[in-house]
Amino acid sequence: MSTAAKGLEGIVAAETVLSFIDGERGILEYAGIAINDLAKDSNFEEVSFLMLNGRLPNKPEFDAFLADLRGAYTISDHTIGLLRSIPATAQPMHMLRTMVSALALEDPNPNSIDIPEVRAKAIRILAKVPTIVAGFDRLRRGLDLIAPDQNLTFAANFLYMLNGEKPTATMERAFDACMILHADHGLNASTFTARVITSTLSDIYSAITGAVGALRGPLHGGANEGVMVMLNEIENVSEAEQFVMNKLAAKDRIMGFGHRVYKSYDPRATYLKTLAEQLANDTGNADLYAKSHAIEKTMDREVASKGIYPNVDFYSATTYHSIGLKLDLFTPMFALSRIAGWAGHALEQLDGNRLIRPKADYVGPHEKPYVAIEQR
Ligand code: SDX
Repeated sequence: MSTAAKGLEGIVAAETVLSFIDGERGILEYAGIAINDLAKDSNFEEVSFLMLNGRLPNKPEFDAFLADLRGAYTISDHTIGLLRSIPATAQPMHMLRTMVSALALEDPNPNSIDIPEVRAKAIRILAKVPTIVAGFDRLRRGLDLIAPDQNLTFAANFLYMLNGEKPTATMERAFDACMILHADHGLNASTFTARVITSTLSDIYSAITGAVGALRGPLHGGANEGVMVMLNEIENVSEAEQFVMNKLAAKDRIMGFGHRVYKSYDPRATYLKTLAEQLANDTGNADLYAKSHAIEKTMDREVASKGIYPNVDFYSATTYHSIGLKLDLFTPMFALSRIAGWAGHALEQLDGNRLIRPKADYVGPHEKPYVAIEQR
């Protein structure tokens, strides 16, 4: 009988100070601070500093960080040229994985594993990816690129570059809260990917590129797009319950529900549920929220006893749609934020690194003779 822990379930593979998750009690903290307090009172820029330094900044540190981050919003003519060469029909997550990798091409010292230098590269990637995603979307719509505005926050600048107009304070705050909520989450699959790549002393560009690849999967970051597809499939709220019952009967997964660690309500979903309801009502998307609520009620009745509750992706779908984001940009939004967490974990991995190399349980035959191809 194999001793392999399928999916590494329950295996402790690292120590971190960046986020704490209590799956039974539905608790998430970044560096000891409750996620609800951060979503309510902080901003994504200082949370990004926290991910790269393990603590919130003081005022002088924050001002210096903002100068570095906003000073790196712009992308080079080379990067723009590459972006223009990408087919308008390309899927955004494949574009994103390609462009993150391409950012290494202009770095004169891409392979550095010096922690301060890697931290500076991480800020460069974090700053440029929103410009790349907004730029790709405008080009595929046949629109001109909008240059970043260094006077705007991370959240406002992205929405400005995407839509060509500055967002309302409500939209900026909602998007900023989404970025805070998605920044880090322990050793999820994409973060573990970043750590594995870093553990070979490879570079931060490779680590973030690999993490983007892992995030795209529908069991992970791709779930928020899956939730939106599901909401669009349900014609109206009266059909939601039967839709869920049919899915459960077919042993299909309902996107946005369930979690390897949370066997209770994901605290990020709690915050996003309130945000989704407010935004949906303000933007004429009340039907989306009503469908989501009906799905949740049915799932609560049918599977809550199995520890299956809404996760971060369930209400982020309605929130992103209400902010005006296209469905295929939902998972890129997850990546925009999680770059901070991936980079933070890469820095932790570098500090006292040990190559990540688990074992496999060989379950095949032994001492078999080699048989020439003519006899096989
Ligand atoms: C994220 O790890 C992280 O922290 C990730 C994340 C982060 O911030 O980085 O939190 C972000 O990825 C959230 C998860 C997004 N994915 C989805 O919403 C996809 C749908 N969810 C499931 O596929 C599932 O819940 C997983 C993949 C998230 C977790 O699955 P596990 O831990 O491998 O659990 P499992 O597949 O073994 O399921 C256990 C049981 C099974 O039933 P039985 O076969 O035992 O009868 O629960 C059932 C599953 O069928 N189940 C579901 C379900 N999720 C689990 N049934 C219906 N719908 C679901 N969504």
